[in-house]
Amino acid sequence: MNDAPIGVFDSGLGGMSVLREMVQRLPHENFVYVADSGHCPYGGKSQQQIIARTVAITDFLLGRGAKLIVVACNTATVAAVEYLRANYSNGFVGMEPAVKPAVALTRSGVVGVLATVATLSGEKLHKLIDRHAGSVRIITQPCPGLPERVEAGELDSAETRILVERYTAPLLAGGADVMVLGSTHYPFLRPLIQQVVGGEVKLLDTGAAVARRVEGVLAGNGGAGGEDLRADRVGRGGVEWFSSGAPQHMQTIGSRLWGLPIVASALPN
Ligand code: DGL
Repeated sequence: MNDAPIGVFDSGLGGMSVLREMVQRLPHENFVYVADSGHCPYGGKSQQQIIARTVAITDFLLGRGAKLIVVACNTATVAAVEYLRANYSNGFVGMEPAVKPAVALTRSGVVGVLATVATLSGEKLHKLIDRHAGSVRIITQPCPGLPERVEAGELDSAETRILVERYTAPLLAGGADVMVLGSTHYPFLRPLIQQVVGGEVKLLDTGAAVARRVEGVLAGNGGAGGEDLRADRVGRGGVEWFSSGAPQHMQTIGSRLWGLPIVASALPN
């Protein structure tokens, strides 16, 4: 089991921002990454549709022998992680928008949360806000269209900038000095978002925190069984890439986002 890969998936290429942190923290692990780019975005889909996609991808990843599955997508976590945990016996690690650290960091007492419509309307986020916001005001902002810009590799095009300006304006007007990047696609837009909102505003994502959580679960500190699942190979692990969209698209745009050439295969139907 220790040599088995960690399965990772997202509605598309966004989860690569989480994978990047995991590869850095857990260099000896093997990973299988699935981009559901053929069905991206998840943000406007129903819970039932998202659950159906996550089930198909989970079955595929388990077929590849995954020892743990990371749902590297906030929207899929909100819609489906409870269903997956109830119906599969393997472990799942999901995303949680960085509301808690944002509340600890704000000086103005106002935090902005950028996420998909589905994430913002989910009960999970409301519970998180109820639990941690205290006297801090939380302004939420849905961002339709942004994942598609990342999928197209448009990290600083005029069209992407217009969307970022539109979505961050109400947060700036409300006095937010910390913004939560509540979708795994947004860290790829961090330089552009920072440029638009100015250097004083702090941007938080949870990729590094998820990587730490995965490390803890593998070490046996987070699972029910407490079994040590860490890879025991001496050399570096690798990543296998799959896409439900065109593998060529993943190779072209994904390689740009990853910073190294990647070879992608089609996700079998
Ligand atoms: N990457 C997904 C997330 O973290 C969002 C993109 C989508 O709408 O599919 O929420």
